[in-house]
Amino acid sequence: MKGHFGKFEDGDAVIYPLFKEDIESGIPAHLNAADMRDVEVRSSAGEKDALTWMFRQRGKPGVLLVGLGEKSKADADLIRNAAGNAGRAVMKDRLERVHVSLNAIQNSPLHAAETAGAWMEGWMLGTYTFHKYKSAPADRVVPPLRLDVEQTAETEEQVRMAMLRAEGTLLARDLANEPPNELRPEMLARRVQEHFANTPVEVEVLSRSTLEKEGMAGLLAVGRGSRYAPLFIKMTYISDSSKPLIALVGKGITFDTGGISLKKDYNISDMRMDMAGGASVIGAMDILSRSGAPLKVVALIPAAENMPGGNALLPGEILTYANGLTVQIGNTDAEGRLVLADALLYAHRLGARDVADIATLTYSCTGALGSKYAGVFGDQSLVDSMRDVSARVGEKVWQLPLADEYESYLDSDCADICNVSSVGEAGAITAALFLRRFVDPSMKWVHLDMAGLKDASATKGHVVHGATGFGTRLLAEWVLSRTAHHERSHA
Ligand code: BES
Ligand code: ZN
Ligand code: ZN
Repeated sequence: MKGHFGKFEDGDAVIYPLFKEDIESGIPAHLNAADMRDVEVRSSAGEKDALTWMFRQRGKPGVLLVGLGEKSKADADLIRNAAGNAGRAVMKDRLERVHVSLNAIQNSPLHAAETAGAWMEGWMLGTYTFHKYKSAPADRVVPPLRLDVEQTAETEEQVRMAMLRAEGTLLARDLANEPPNELRPEMLARRVQEHFANTPVEVEVLSRSTLEKEGMAGLLAVGRGSRYAPLFIKMTYISDSSKPLIALVGKGITFDTGGISLKKDYNISDMRMDMAGGASVIGAMDILSRSGAPLKVVALIPAAENMPGGNALLPGEILTYANGLTVQIGNTDAEGRLVLADALLYAHRLGARDVADIATLTYSCTGALGSKYAGVFGDQSLVDSMRDVSARVGEKVWQLPLADEYESYLDSDCADICNVSSVGEAGAITAALFLRRFVDPSMKWVHLDMAGLKDASATKGHVVHGATGFGTRLLAEWVLSRTAHHERSHA
């Protein structure tokens, strides 16, 4: 924590975040007088997203004004976005050290501690790059950042958690950005094992013979067409065994060709990110296990490559799941729900009280909600808690109904249910209804469809082109809030 706080030192570049109201009257009085000598600040410098550089003598970048817009519209996400924009602006210049003057923000509607955390989080998220496969070294470096803000216990805690959330998200982005030839199921498992080696997170990888013993019909079937075996990754973190168990489930399809129901080439390109849900679950475990909070949490990732081939799953096949339910395959491209079903059944066998799953599950969800809102379904109390957390972390969700009226769309002639709807509508809802069939009534369940949010097409604010790491911060904060909730209802 030391080193992230501090006063201005000579030679530092200084960032001043500015609300519109504070600059309209000309040069804000609180700005460092020496920096602002002979400088005319245009009033547009306070506009949201405006970045205004001012140069010191010797032509070195000295001061960056970052517009925050109007105070009445300010929230933590605004600060995160401003920090992301500022971070990228200073990356271009090889600066030794950057100093952000949060103390200079006047009469902010946000608490200083919240602002400090949000700034750090947005800064780390917005300056992320994935240059692992570029042969030239990165030409942009993120200079160390110091926060000029009152260093209270609350500020320190907010900044500490913000950094953990950002690092967990960057881990998820790193995994989702990997090309499919570098992240097959066993490589994903190895990455998880390596990452959590010498940490309190216990990692188990269930291989094919164990999947057979556990009756993981969906995962075995989906993984059958690939020469790379499917497997099931289980991460356990228990810092307080008296807590009720919370399970996180993430879809881990390392590439989704659609299988025998092959996708058209125009919609296949980003299916290397069909393990983005799994990646956010891994990122969330990273945050949780470093948070120091008393928790009992398990993360489950069914991982497979969905391929056509001589041994592949065929449309028409009937699978029998561990709970006795039989499923006829209508379309092998609806593979996510098939593997998540095994994980939901397994979560119950472990004794989970609450379970959240996250998946790049349906195009339909993207059609309905676009690329900024994930669909959320499930038990109302869990949906409500997910929405509360969502508003705090700025990862947006919108509730869709588990409409009983559409339950019959999954009817099958010869099995209990079909894996796809017989009616060409409500694809995200019918996928969620399918999953509900595998949720034991003793568990509370919430489902996130993040198909539209796995990657961003443009860099803006704290979001960077490529994998977003969506869900990482949301799930980690949700587990913390659910655990606190159980504590309260226990007391
Ligand atoms: N992984 C895809 C869904 C997806 C598509 C995620 C685009 C992100 C971006 C999923 O496995 C799939 O193919 N779903 C099908 C289901 C259909 C066959 C019932 C879909 O949504 O079209
Ligand atoms: Zn698919
Ligand atoms: Zn898929």
